[in-house]
Amino acid sequence: MNDPELAVMPRPVRDSQSEMTQIVLPNDANPLGALLGGRLMHWIDMAGALAAHRHSRHHVVTAAIDHLDFLVPVRVGDLVILRSSVNRVFRTSMEVGVKVWVENYLEDSANHVSSAYLTFVAVDKAGNHLPVPAVIPETDEQKRRYEDAGRRREIRCSELERRRIGLRKNAPV
Ligand SMILES: CC(C)(COP(=O)(O)OP(=O)(O)OC[C@H]1O[C@@H](n2cnc3c(N)ncnc32)[C@H](O)[C@@H]1OP(=O)(O)O)[C@@H](O)C(=O)NCCC(=O)NCCS
Repeated sequence: MNDPELAVMPRPVRDSQSEMTQIVLPNDANPLGALLGGRLMHWIDMAGALAAHRHSRHHVVTAAIDHLDFLVPVRVGDLVILRSSVNRVFRTSMEVGVKVWVENYLEDSANHVSSAYLTFVAVDKAGNHLPVPAVIPETDEQKRRYEDAGRRREIRCSELERRRIGLRKNAPV
């Protein structure tokens, strides 16, 4: 981004809200016609990156994806709707929430498939980390997600530290 003032200006959550729709084709499914978990994880990553790009207006890399549950099966022919937005910005990283729905237009049904929290880090072309503008939660729901994201960040950081200590202990001398 060329304007340095614009680059650091806080932005409302609504600026990052994104929606991505995929129709499940046979190539996305296992031999029983159910969507592959790995394919859904890829779509979640893409939907999350959309929101992270829109908010930060920088290139981003995925630093982490939290725990994922697949709540209902998704079948060939279903529509998968992925809605994403930035929940909270820390310094160079941001938490993005992605909520996944499955719609079957023949049965007129819609079900919640999965909710995921991803951490993206803003980077320049050389891979240097860049500060991300703050996000402004406006609605009650956005404020709740903002608060929850702070709690999840604490857990994530302490888990990361624990893993780093474990790696150092097991490193060859
Ligand atoms: C993610 C990555 C940029 C972190 O870089 P790093 O130098 O190890 O991390 P730092 O300790 O300087 O942390 C940078 C930011 O990332 C956050 N971060 C780093 N690892 C994280 C993790 N596992 N989970 C959540 N946040 C993490 C830090 O909290 C920090 O956030 P802040 O600036 O908002 O406080 C780096 O490990 C990387 O490039 N990984 C590969 C990313 C990639 O290629 N993803 C695609 C899938 S392969």
